[in-house]
Amino acid sequence: MPDDDNALTSKAVSREEQAIDLTLRPRLLEEFIGQRAKKEQLRIFIEAARGRGDVLDHVLLSGPPGLGKTTLATIIAGELKVNMRNTSGPALERQGDLAAILTNLEPGDVLFIDEIHRLPPVVEEILYPAMEDFKIDIIIGKGPGARSVRLELPRYTLIGATTRVGLMTGPLLTRFGVSLRLDYYPEDEVDAIVKRAARILAIEVDDEGSAETARRARGTPRIANRLLRRVRDYAEVEAEGVVTGDVARKAMAMLQIDPMGLDVLDQALLSAVIDKFAGGPVGLKTLAAAVGEEPDTLEEVYEPFLMKLGFLKRTPRGRVATPHAFKHMGRDVEGGEGSLF
Ligand SMILES: Nc1ncnc2c1ncn2[C@@H]1O[C@H](COP(=O)(O)OP(=O)(O)OP(=O)(O)O)[C@@H](O)[C@H]1O
Ligand SMILES: [Mg+2]
Repeated sequence: MPDDDNALTSKAVSREEQAIDLTLRPRLLEEFIGQRAKKEQLRIFIEAARGRGDVLDHVLLSGPPGLGKTTLATIIAGELKVNMRNTSGPALERQGDLAAILTNLEPGDVLFIDEIHRLPPVVEEILYPAMEDFKIDIIIGKGPGARSVRLELPRYTLIGATTRVGLMTGPLLTRFGVSLRLDYYPEDEVDAIVKRAARILAIEVDDEGSAETARRARGTPRIANRLLRRVRDYAEVEAEGVVTGDVARKAMAMLQIDPMGLDVLDQALLSAVIDKFAGGPVGLKTLAAAVGEEPDTLEEVYEPFLMKLGFLKRTPRGRVATPHAFKHMGRDVEGGEGSLF
């Protein structure tokens, strides 16, 4: 699979992309488009905490990649007018790594732990009292001379983000007072996100061009922003720099993104289930090998959207393509062998 095809859905971001991400990242709750109910809850919790002069309860943000978890965490810290310390589950290898960060927090700070489902169990263990009682017990020394020391922490707000809430343990989940699950954005909200990005990046796009871009963005702001930039490239080279509906459609054809927003890998995945495994069920690992992608990536990035579209089902015996998927891929639903081509 060529890298640039995966790049549209990929979590990995280049340095240049990071810079653009920062430019496009909303700073205030009111600039954050969509997810209205969740925004409203946050606004109230933040205002209440500030009114009481207390810290905000710990917040868990979950949902597929690119929907705005990191963005929201930054906004929360901004709205609370406190500093945010950033780390991630895999970066915290030993208890000492987390203890060092916790003991350096200022009162009221936000501690952001990305990919919190990947915290090593020994580290997670000291997080429990650190969340509940703002205390940690650490062991100093080794062998018979080892002793446990209790450290008081300032009151702070932990914000955890995860794409895989199902992998989190019960004890950790219950320690979050606020849990928000972000879901794919409806088309009109993605359209607003495309228009906002176009304005910031000075890209000329008409209504149809932005609607067409939004329609193919898999309900995901990050992908919408990426697609917009690719469509802009196309418009500059092949048209007069203006992203119209026609230009957007042609650019998508060049990018091999179909009208539902499925990219080459989505299409390969559905074709594999349908053609190689007779519609399924097929195990995740077998499927991953068939399309040349990591099982984790399929589970985290590709499958949630295909399931959301009703194209794929997870069953205890494996993945199954739905009649919907057969139809979309131009296959005969009964036999599973007819082809569009
Ligand atoms: N609601 C929104 N309104 C406008 N732009 C948004 C919104 N949500 C996300 N974005 C844009 O999408 C980009 C990706 O969002 P973000 O990095 O917050 O996603 P994430 O959920 O943290 O993804 P990951 O799981 O990969 O870490 C951001 O740079 C931001 O510009
Ligand atoms: Mg993130």
